Amino acid sequence: MIKIAPSILSSDFSILAEEVASVKNADLLHVDIMDGHFVPNITIGPPVVRCLRPRTGLPMDVHLMIERPENYIRQFADAGADILTIHVEATTHLNRALNMVAESGVKVGVALNPATPLCFIEDVLDLVDMILIMTVNPGFGGQEFIKSSLDRIARARAMVERSGRNIDIEVDGGIANDTAPLVVKAGANVLVAGQAIFGADSPSKAVEDLRRALGPLGQEAVGVPRVRA
Ligand code: DX5
Ligand code: ZN
Repeated sequence: MIKIAPSILSSDFSILAEEVASVKNADLLHVDIMDGHFVPNITIGPPVVRCLRPRTGLPMDVHLMIERPENYIRQFADAGADILTIHVEATTHLNRALNMVAESGVKVGVALNPATPLCFIEDVLDLVDMILIMTVNPGFGGQEFIKSSLDRIARARAMVERSGRNIDIEVDGGIANDTAPLVVKAGANVLVAGQAIFGADSPSKAVEDLRRALGPLGQEAVGVPRVRA
């Protein structure tokens, strides 16, 4: 089953609770945290995540685009995150940081920017529940999907299959009705979409449209090797 994760980055922050309530039919709520250092943009912090917690029944998928994420793991976990994803490029001590996420009682995600070699996560696969393959350079919504990501997704899926672990592969950036089937075919099973959902007149309809765009692929079981070993 493919999971859809609307990114609130493209929502109207002045009516955030309403925006979040409009995507009840999604599977996860993707929350982008930016610090103005790791990426050239600033968004929100733990207080807003805490306020959102009672406003959504969806698991909160918190994507930390911040330097030294280890300094904030506890705060975001306490604020109500269900998944905390940290970037390989943002910490010198990835193993320690991922262990800290696990110890805080939430699911563990690890993210890679488009130019970061996949081998950077090879030795931490035993620690993670989800790999986030960035399909744009992080920092902004509404950017164009980077096509070479498809090969990276396929290689990440092969890596996961070899590990024998049940690890989700999430994609983030430029996901819409045209790119969604491509990333799923390549091996992704969690699709983040900001502009395609919150930029639409009806976000809930946009979630359904995205599912429909996947056709039978949307029902595919996770963990089946699709492209190459
Ligand atoms: C970008 C963020 C994304 C962003 C995606 O750095 O991590 O989650 O909201 O936006 P779209 O789907 O509009 O490319
Ligand atoms: Zn994101």
